Amino acid sequence: MTPTATELRARLREILGADGLLTTDADCAPYLTDHRQLYQGVALGVALPRTVAQVSQLLSSCNAQRVGVVPQGGNTSYCGGATPDESASQLLVSLQRLNRIRSIDPANYSLVAEAGCILARLQQAADEADRLLPLTLGSQGSCQIGGNLSTNAGGTSVLRYGMARDLVLGLEVVLADGRMLDSLTALRKDNTGYDIKSLFLGAEGTLGIITAASLKLFPKVRDVATAFVAIADVRAAVTLLARLREASSDRVSSFELIPRVAVELTTRHIAQVTDPLDRAHDWYVLCELSSSRAADGLEELMSTALSAALADGLVRDAAVARNERERAALWKLRESIPEAQRKEGASLKHDVAVPVAALADFLARATPWVDAHVPEARLVAYGHVGDGNLHFNISPLAGADTARFLAQAPAVRRAIHDLVREFGGSFSAEHGIGRLKVDELERYANPVELDLMRAVKRAFDPHGIMNPGKVLRA
Ligand code: FAD
Ligand code: MLT
Ligand code: ZN
Repeated sequence: MTPTATELRARLREILGADGLLTTDADCAPYLTDHRQLYQGVALGVALPRTVAQVSQLLSSCNAQRVGVVPQGGNTSYCGGATPDESASQLLVSLQRLNRIRSIDPANYSLVAEAGCILARLQQAADEADRLLPLTLGSQGSCQIGGNLSTNAGGTSVLRYGMARDLVLGLEVVLADGRMLDSLTALRKDNTGYDIKSLFLGAEGTLGIITAASLKLFPKVRDVATAFVAIADVRAAVTLLARLREASSDRVSSFELIPRVAVELTTRHIAQVTDPLDRAHDWYVLCELSSSRAADGLEELMSTALSAALADGLVRDAAVARNERERAALWKLRESIPEAQRKEGASLKHDVAVPVAALADFLARATPWVDAHVPEARLVAYGHVGDGNLHFNISPLAGADTARFLAQAPAVRRAIHDLVREFGGSFSAEHGIGRLKVDELERYANPVELDLMRAVKRAFDPHGIMNPGKVLRA
């Protein structure tokens, strides 16, 4: 260990207290691998600040010594953004102890929470205040709001409520040099120059550490109708979505595409998941209408719309949830797809977006490419139809050689992402860039945008200490 590292550790202990800095291999280990186990980092230590002042002091010290800092929330992200490199010279800063809900204001439809609050806890707190925090992800039991905002997370309610960034009223951020940016407003309107806070949303910890956020709340859902619908094909899904939006006065809150293979994987690997329909179909959607008005007639509206779609050949069969238990079972099937895929084995993941209306054409081009070029594999393409976002994942068939399968990742990624570009799409719809997709960003980003990103990075973090090598090359 260099003298600088020894000195820094001593200084960090002064700032954080004896229990605020982990340094042994055993203590640090849980923080040093990403969720997908793509990366194994080695850190100078793991800092566990309890206060914003501690975050400020530790960043100021790291900046002075040019020590890289890697923020970490719930460590559920998919691109290795929260994992330090292998140099043992970076400090991991976990926000887990900075986890107070500072205030809830039902009249202003807003709450203020610290970065380390688990998303599910905030949803619960909003619910208890008779309000809705709509951000909904399969990882909500362990991801943190600071991580959600830093990745600009999506999830299953984007169609109605937008991405994580759309829910932000204000932010509190500690900058690389330790200064605090207090922009924790609860205002709905504020046109006072550049919207600086928006730069931290989706920045994946490369511009500063978000310590707290002021978030929008919404009226609580009091009527809901949820259906698992077998559709004729993917084009029919897009048509059905458009029709349901019209028929329901735009009360569609989720519209998720599910392929047959995902039903097979979840029923095989996840306890208590069963096929909601009697016969197998190639494609399904899980769709939900919701309203803040009690007894709004949504179930009837859903049944009427689905019957019409059945008559028109868009829909083959459907199960409408009759109670909360059945609704939860449908959502369990959808939300367990990533876990079921993980249990099945290796997977090549692509988090792509194309314009909603182009989804069917994209799949019609991409599917035969996979069939022809990725032997011993099958496509598991599912996702958020309403956002044009497909998790275009590929799993090996049983008995396939995993190493050989994974070795194809770069070539497959290139082909899929090139095709996405042809469709005017995005190679990273909601999971971010992290370390995994830095090359992709360089290849596909608009060069002017990339220049501006680098300029922003230099302006906010001139010594490059914030999450080095993530999003932009160090
Ligand atoms: P982390 O993984 O800890 O960090 C993510 C990035 O943010 C890193 O770059 C980190 O350095 C940075 N960061 C974390 N906290 C801060 C902070 N306070 N200040 C500055 N930077 C910070 N994602 C979706 O978008 N939609 C989904 O539907 C979805 N479903 C998922 C389902 C499952 C089962 C799993 C495992 C993951 C899913 N994800 C999904 C991915 C993941 O949960 C999200 O990216 C989530 O927002 C990450 O939050 P986190 O707290 O775990 O962040
Ligand atoms: C989802 O929508 O389930 C996730 O974003 C995809 C995943 O977890 O792989
Ligand atoms: Zn998703």
